[in-house]
Amino acid sequence: LSKIEIKLGDIPEGKNMTFKWRGKPLFVRHRTEKEIAVEAAVNLGELRDPQHDKDRVKNPSWVIVLGVCTHLGCVPIANAGDYGGYYCPCHGSHYDASGRIRKGPAPLNLEVPYYEFPDDETVVVG
Ligand code: FES
Repeated sequence: LSKIEIKLGDIPEGKNMTFKWRGKPLFVRHRTEKEIAVEAAVNLGELRDPQHDKDRVKNPSWVIVLGVCTHLGCVPIANAGDYGGYYCPCHGSHYDASGRIRKGPAPLNLEVPYYEFPDDETVVVG
């Protein structure tokens, strides 16, 4: 299946859920108000792969990224690492709560797939 439909009401605030999409892990993260504020305020000059949070999300409450580390493809752990977003245990890459690489060997931010919100309760990825 090339598309996946996810019910957002099943994902509480502060939680990241993992789905399988096109044979890869897909992360859907319901951010807290604090995470939203912190990521919006990050200075792009600090970033290895500079991208503003608003260019990575369509709705600040929801981060939708592939759960594939951009170093060598391991699956990062959610709500872990020095930046509170994701931590890849394979070689120690730390991502923030926007999925941006902040520390460790990975070169790029977690990839944002194409997605849409057909209504307030649903996201369709693909
Ligand atoms: Fe994630 Fe190497 S695969 S740090």
